[in-house]
Amino acid sequence: MLIRSLLSPRFTSRIQQNCACILGVQIKMQKKLKMEYPKVCREEVLEVLHGVKVADPYRWLEDPDSDETKAFVDAQNAITVPYLEKCRAREDIKSKLTELWDYPKYSCPFRRGSRYFFFMNTGLQNQSVMYVQDSLVGEPRVFLDPNMLSEDGTVAISGSAFSEDGEIYAYGLSKSGSDWITVHFKKVATGEDYPEILEKVKFSSLSWTHDHKGIFYGRYVDHEGLADGTETVSNENQKLFYHRVGTPQSEDVLVVEFPEHPKWRISSKVTDCGSYLLACPREGCRDNLVYFASLPENIATKLELTCIVDKFDSDYQYITNDGSVCIFRTNKGSPNYRLVKIDLSDPAPDKWVTLIPEHKKDVLDWAACVHGDKLVVCYISDVKSVLQLHSLVTGEHLTTLPLDIGTVSGYSGKRTHSEMFYQFTSFLSPGIIYHLDLTQEPLKPKVFREIGIKGFDATQFEMQQVFYISKDGTKIPMFIVHCCGLKLDGSAPTLLYGYGGFNISIQPYFSISRVIFLQMFKGIIAVPNIRGGGEYGESWHNAGRLLNKQNVFDDFQAAAEYLISEKYTSSKRLIIQGGSNGGLLVGACMNQRPELFGAAIAQVGVMDMLRFHKFTIGYAWCSDYGNPDEKDHFDNVLQFSPLHNVKVPAEDVQYPATLLLTADHDDRVVPLHSFKLISELQYKLCNHPSQTNPLLIRIETKAGHGGGKPTAKIIEEHTDIYCFVMQALGLEASL
Ligand SMILES: *[C@@H]1O[C@H](CO)[C@@H](O)[C@H](O)[C@H]1NC(C)=O
Ligand SMILES: *[C@@H]1O[C@H](CO)[C@@H](O)[C@H](O)[C@H]1NC(C)=O
Repeated sequence: MLIRSLLSPRFTSRIQQNCACILGVQIKMQKKLKMEYPKVCREEVLEVLHGVKVADPYRWLEDPDSDETKAFVDAQNAITVPYLEKCRAREDIKSKLTELWDYPKYSCPFRRGSRYFFFMNTGLQNQSVMYVQDSLVGEPRVFLDPNMLSEDGTVAISGSAFSEDGEIYAYGLSKSGSDWITVHFKKVATGEDYPEILEKVKFSSLSWTHDHKGIFYGRYVDHEGLADGTETVSNENQKLFYHRVGTPQSEDVLVVEFPEHPKWRISSKVTDCGSYLLACPREGCRDNLVYFASLPENIATKLELTCIVDKFDSDYQYITNDGSVCIFRTNKGSPNYRLVKIDLSDPAPDKWVTLIPEHKKDVLDWAACVHGDKLVVCYISDVKSVLQLHSLVTGEHLTTLPLDIGTVSGYSGKRTHSEMFYQFTSFLSPGIIYHLDLTQEPLKPKVFREIGIKGFDATQFEMQQVFYISKDGTKIPMFIVHCCGLKLDGSAPTLLYGYGGFNISIQPYFSISRVIFLQMFKGIIAVPNIRGGGEYGESWHNAGRLLNKQNVFDDFQAAAEYLISEKYTSSKRLIIQGGSNGGLLVGACMNQRPELFGAAIAQVGVMDMLRFHKFTIGYAWCSDYGNPDEKDHFDNVLQFSPLHNVKVPAEDVQYPATLLLTADHDDRVVPLHSFKLISELQYKLCNHPSQTNPLLIRIETKAGHGGGKPTAKIIEEHTDIYCFVMQALGLEASL
């Protein structure tokens, strides 16, 4: 279906010959109908990397704009879309999803200036709407409705900040899921926008000077060519600018740059007192440096920076300050994090004073200052949230707020305010927002709002946390959710979801699509907290990154084996799912243990581990994957790179039914990863006699890595995934 002009004659004949000879086998052995895949051209690209010969036959798919790539996308969708649409239960799945999805969703309210704001989605709105209220009991008015900014809901708010007085709202807008944003400014009192729009902004913090005059933001000022999220060029030379509201971007002042470090991303923060700017460069996805500058009254030139932390070896996050004494949360010398006081006027590390020491087992996940002298401190304890109040002065523990088993998923509060809000969620709780008035004695959190869903009764399900043993003996926690009284006879379809990287903690959260899986398929949801995440601090992350990355895959496979040996499910009924770094997880595991899983769903995955660092922000992932330009890391990633480890399995073994998902505006993990992998899978397995499971890719348009995706597209995507799984595993759907 896809003929490429560059195709060498020798190669053409080889493909044809291969396909022909296996076709004969197919006819004899075939019971189940096999899929016909597009014949994707293989080019003779051969490189010697660190002494190893590596072929890259689908290099041409790295060009997102070529006619050949477009033809490839069309040819793949032309087999995937009909497969997904022929599912008999499609309309039932979609209408059930739509019906359950249609419940009001709220964020925590947050106070800025004298007003309260919150986000609310009535149910099926593509984007949540921002409301303003003059008081907590006042009538909410629409403040900003992103649904009005595009026909199809593909414009989303991404990043925002209010001026200190709460009178101007700076907000980023992202189109079609791209990481690029434009920054806009709105007068809060009138709802009117300022005329200027800031361009070429990505991976940026927005931080106001306390005179309400302008913001610091990060800009890729040298970026040339398309900047809409379909391009793949590396993002380099982010610089910090100061923008004065009401002036054109061309007048912005360059305040911080590090020209000798093109890969640094510079986040910035004006301190609570308004006197300093903290600039915190980061190169990978962990560890940052800390610089500060005293802010002059008029910002007209580059700022004079003083360096406090000059090595990328730990994280430092500003919490608050009194004069020159700042409180940071750090894992320096404390892998589970602690709070430390650093005096900017005497910042030598031996002068730092610990305010809240590291906990032996629990991770100090975040901290915030409220009501003048209190600290809200949230821990992760065996994957569950624990919320406490401490004294800002002594660090002393004051109280632990009551909380069910689950996650604190939202918080709002300010040092200058005497109230705070926090939101709780879990697998079976769609959300409870609490309000705490800190002037009251004794402290008594009140339920401010509890989210309920028609057609969902949490008492019909049960959730448990188990601990299983991985290949090397490590104990791994896993949440398991299913219907009450489910018979464990190994027959329940089970959705095993994992991530395993970048220090991301997968805490319990609510998901309608999972409820559908529990209800419609009488299924089981299993979420193991495998290594590479941050659930047990830096050491848990370290145990699953760089040369330890294989542990992540071992942990996931051990989870599957546990679910099978404990009679929850069987291989044929086991679905693995992951996105982004979790897409890599799924890709690596299906190569390593094809017989262990019935289906594999890999969303927006990193699949080419030899070249991920060459596109957009890919180089930043070297902190987890290692740099493939270095020999030891090259050798390591080559062992598990999904693209480079597709092997025809033993005669009676086949690959799980596979669905890769990607999108045309994904500029985080560019689509070429999935394009190359599906081509390799189809090429290698199309002739394997046992391979009756389909190997498909779904390529979405006007969508990106996932952030800001409109509800209509999310429902469509879940519908497709379940249609795929149903047909591939032969599941029945009950309504
Ligand atoms: C969301 O967007 C889709 C198009 O992507 C549109 O058909 C639908 O009506 C929108 N939904 C709502 C509730 O506005
Ligand atoms: C690593 O994970 C822990 C636990 O979730 C979190 O508190 C910490 O901030 C994370 N570090 C970074 C750099 O994101």
